[in-house]
Amino acid sequence: MENPLREGLVTRHAAEPCVVVIFGATGDLTRRKLVPALCNLAHEGQLPAGFAVVGFARRPKSNAEFRAELLDGVKKFSRFNPINPAVWDSFAQGIFYHQAEFSDATGYDRLNQFLRQLDKDRGTAGNRLFYLATAPPDFTTIIRQLGAHGLGRGTASRIIVEKPFGRSLATAHELNTELATVFDENQVYRIDHYLGKETVQNILALRFANEIFEPLWNQKYIDHVQITVSESLGVETRGSYYEKSGALRDMVQNHMMQLLALVGMEPPAGLAANDIRDEKVKVLRSIRPIEPGHISQSSVRGQYAAGSLAGKAVVGYHEELNVAPDSRTETFVALKLFIDNWRWASVPFYLRHGKRLPKQTAEIAIQFKAPPAVLFAAETTAPVQPNVLVLRIQPDEGIAIRMNAKVPGTALHIEPVKMDFRYGGSFGARSPEAYERLLHDALAGDATLFTRSDEVEASWRLMDAVLTGWQTAGRPAAYEAGTWGPPEADAFIAKDGRTWRRP
Ligand code: BG6
Repeated sequence: MENPLREGLVTRHAAEPCVVVIFGATGDLTRRKLVPALCNLAHEGQLPAGFAVVGFARRPKSNAEFRAELLDGVKKFSRFNPINPAVWDSFAQGIFYHQAEFSDATGYDRLNQFLRQLDKDRGTAGNRLFYLATAPPDFTTIIRQLGAHGLGRGTASRIIVEKPFGRSLATAHELNTELATVFDENQVYRIDHYLGKETVQNILALRFANEIFEPLWNQKYIDHVQITVSESLGVETRGSYYEKSGALRDMVQNHMMQLLALVGMEPPAGLAANDIRDEKVKVLRSIRPIEPGHISQSSVRGQYAAGSLAGKAVVGYHEELNVAPDSRTETFVALKLFIDNWRWASVPFYLRHGKRLPKQTAEIAIQFKAPPAVLFAAETTAPVQPNVLVLRIQPDEGIAIRMNAKVPGTALHIEPVKMDFRYGGSFGARSPEAYERLLHDALAGDATLFTRSDEVEASWRLMDAVLTGWQTAGRPAAYEAGTWGPPEADAFIAKDGRTWRRP
């Protein structure tokens, strides 16, 4: 049977014939995520009939070499394993390599000619989807060249911009301005792969396709919200990127603020891209910026020291590749934010993210207020626990409700029990990868799951305030790898009379 939520929230348009031009085609993202995702779409028959991929990069390479490298990535990273050779062969016939410097105008002249040829050969009908998968310093050069070669406004082109989208409000604004000189806003797709995760999309379904939660979804009944994204991985080979980024820019500004916006937003007027994005922007703009004088009451920064994970010793952040020995970059962050609007007045949203924590997990926990301590207080030894609704984003995707029940027996013991819905168990089929969903939507011209310029800037405005506060707030606190962050993080929430959940 067709799932009605899929009808409403998932694919509403079919993907149009298109050439996807990937800038930075020899990088990790293309091999690990983009091409495996496109190949998965091919497997599922979701690519348009007229389709091609052009990899644009600096290194010389033949089409055959490029295809072979991509096949290797597909074998490792596609969710179809083993892949169907017939699907790969037909998909690979539409993959081409285009060698040029990003700043070389003649490279774009040749690209234009080639794209017109592909329109004839592969029926791609003048539609182009440009994908900026390069290092951010190249973004502006490429955008300007696309504009100068008539590939922007007034054409059927669209552009996907990978993260990081700026590193401050000013730089995000500059990038938005560059994009706006060449493209209309509805041609720009700023990617945040968390929005492509099935469980993240399910936040809206849970809230607005059920009658039982929404009446309680406000400051009258909710005590606080905890959003946790914990990773057991360290910075791996990304030390030089991470040194300039840190946990706040890498995960909080984008992924976690999106989670917060979806939990906090008002019901949208409809499901069109701008209906949803309008509501998300409203929430982001209602968040109270953290004043420099409140930085230590509102945030904690940490950095992992040597420790152990799953019984294996791991090095501290300072000893990672391409990390300065005296680095002050944070690998852990906890924030307390308030949404100053009617629905959420005085409800703290605690956000917590870190690398080298004990588990790889992401969840949103809505903690309700405790029931009045009257009826059972005299009869039970421990106070009745408040209800908690947990949205598990990953792994083990699902939703759990903690509620109270009487323990069987003659005595009156009340204990928390859990009602648990698991995606895998209820729907069976494996969810598509986030990039599949996002590439499919961009091909189909649906921008709902991409962020708008004002949304990105509203989020950066809040992060800038935190970063400014940190400039004079000393060093991040050390935590042992394999623990839940620095002791300061526990003290931070304890002073509000609350504790972190252990996901
Ligand atoms: C990326 C960050 O955006 O998201 C990484 O740059 C992080 O540092 C990753 O590990 C987490 O994504 P996921 O889908 O594995 O939770």
